[in-house]
Amino acid sequence: MPTPHPTVSDSGTDRERVAERLLTASHAHAFDPITDVDWDAPLVDGAYFLPAHRVSLYGTPLWERMSERQRVDLSRHEVASMAGVGIWFEVVLMQLLIRHVYDRPLTSRHVQYAFMEIAEECRHSTMFGRLIDKLECPEYGPGPYAHMAARALKTFGSGVQAFAMALIAEEVLDTMQREMMADESLQPITRRTARIHVVEEARHVRYARDEVARGAPHLSRAERAITRLALARAAHIIATRLVHPGVYAAVGLDPAEAYRTARANPHRLDTLAHWSRRLIVFYDEQGLLGGPGLRLWRASGLMGRRTPSPAGRGV
Ligand SMILES: [Fe+2]
Ligand SMILES: [Fe+2]
Repeated sequence: MPTPHPTVSDSGTDRERVAERLLTASHAHAFDPITDVDWDAPLVDGAYFLPAHRVSLYGTPLWERMSERQRVDLSRHEVASMAGVGIWFEVVLMQLLIRHVYDRPLTSRHVQYAFMEIAEECRHSTMFGRLIDKLECPEYGPGPYAHMAARALKTFGSGVQAFAMALIAEEVLDTMQREMMADESLQPITRRTARIHVVEEARHVRYARDEVARGAPHLSRAERAITRLALARAAHIIATRLVHPGVYAAVGLDPAEAYRTARANPHRLDTLAHWSRRLIVFYDEQGLLGGPGLRLWRASGLMGRRTPSPAGRGV
């Protein structure tokens, strides 16, 4: 595991200035998931929950055979599936943040912002839970393997590795939700929840990127190799769990066939690459791509149809 940063007073440092700015922004732009979303408004008949071209089967022969009602329903279930994965990941992140502050000066702005982020993630998870209810979908979750695998991460992950992992879900969801909140043809409930999440997650992304950029140059060769592999593993798990196979059964499709079709869908690979582009550029800048983990990155679909250079610098 990467060595945690030493416990020192951060007063007056750049880290403190970043945290102070983020705290001010959190105070100015905060949302309450209970009152800031109109949970009683009826769903709009026939409107997609996710842009059609971002649905996992879009563009495949299977998609062509589906009725419009099935397509819209699939978009509803895929949003619920991703909301469930979002809650799972936020719970992991909350534990990582709690462990991050444990060894640090508790009066620092850096720690106070971590507390603020935890509070915001609590609200997001509440909001996503309500969204799943509102969409009348099951709680799909990430599946038993990912559920178990994350136990090690949330118990032992720290430093650069922890913050870089946080960015996997935060950057991917952020890019996806920015498109959703801007698309006026979508269901108002998914646009609203996407907007709330985008506004608050922009701060989380800044906080995590700052920690990664501060710590990554100081990783030893062994720490860097372990971190690269751990990030590749996490990226693969997250990318392959965003859409639970159960969503296909829910709309009357054969789940095994539909899951295989989606995984091989070139449109899907383009979508995953679109959602992860900023993350991959950042990882590459920080030297966090490369080594044996590249095979997992390619298998995850997050690199789309592109192949990175062996050194991980050519993305
Ligand atoms: Fe969140
Ligand atoms: Fe977040």
